[in-house]
Amino acid sequence: MVARDDCGHGCCCKYFSEQYRQKEVAENRALSEHLYKQSQERGELLNHLITAQEDERKRVARELHDDLGQSLGALALQIEAVEKLIEKDSESAINQLNLTRDLIKETTDRMYDLILALRPSTLDDLGLISALQSHAERCLEGSDIAFELNTDGLTGRLEPEMETTLYRIYQEALTNVRRHSGAKKVSITITMVDGYLESEIRDDGTGFDLSRFESNREGSHGWGLLGIKERVSQMGGELEITALPGRGTIIRMRFPITGRIGG
Ligand SMILES: Nc1ncnc2c1ncn2[C@@H]1O[C@H](COP(=O)(O)OP(=O)(O)OP(=O)(O)O)[C@@H](O)[C@H]1O
Ligand SMILES: [Mg+2]
Repeated sequence: MVARDDCGHGCCCKYFSEQYRQKEVAENRALSEHLYKQSQERGELLNHLITAQEDERKRVARELHDDLGQSLGALALQIEAVEKLIEKDSESAINQLNLTRDLIKETTDRMYDLILALRPSTLDDLGLISALQSHAERCLEGSDIAFELNTDGLTGRLEPEMETTLYRIYQEALTNVRRHSGAKKVSITITMVDGYLESEIRDDGTGFDLSRFESNREGSHGWGLLGIKERVSQMGGELEITALPGRGTIIRMRFPITGRIGG
């Protein structure tokens, strides 16, 4: 005899509802495991960022002290020397002044390097494209990696927050290309399509095993890609990283840009 439940369809109803319940339980478990992993990653990233920020402050303080501090001290001494020479040996005084001028130039360059590392003024003054172009030139200088930038439909300025996010992402991606890829070429494409900003960073280097980078995060390295992931998600964007071992790496991003165009 076939057992009947309330709906009169036989035991299959109970069987299916039990199956449905088990599927739901499994899905909820997978979701909570995913959320747990995500919150752990965020916590680790936050710790790393705080440490990195502290290290950066120490580095800037050390450079200000050791580099600029020393140069300014040397300048003061050189001016004293000129003062003493100026009346009795004007030729030596002029030579000393030339040395002083060189040291002022060096010190000014070092100061601009420091300012640039903290916040590139081109980003505020001239916008993302110019800042990115000049950063790429500096970052890839002395390597054999060619750089290409294609911007399609990007005419005005983006919202400052968006420009900063994208700039920091490109900085990390280009550093990775320089450090890890052995590429001959890297290209960045930025396109505006249907209310979205799409961007791609593509190199023709070694690629890497994407599954291994997750497990290799330790100490002060292995945070760059996770940082990119977080920045994209904070701007409500989507990210896809394709690493093809032996054939290169492609990072693709997509952001909604409604109300995100600046002046
Ligand atoms: N463009 C690339 N080409 C080849 N390998 C890459 C590329 N980008 C990343 N990788 C690999 O992925 C790993 C993780 O990159 P990630 O930027 O997260 O960390 P990292 O560069 O090692 O350290 P950091 O925390 O200083 O960025 C790298 O160590 C490298 O092995
Ligand atoms: Mg990196």
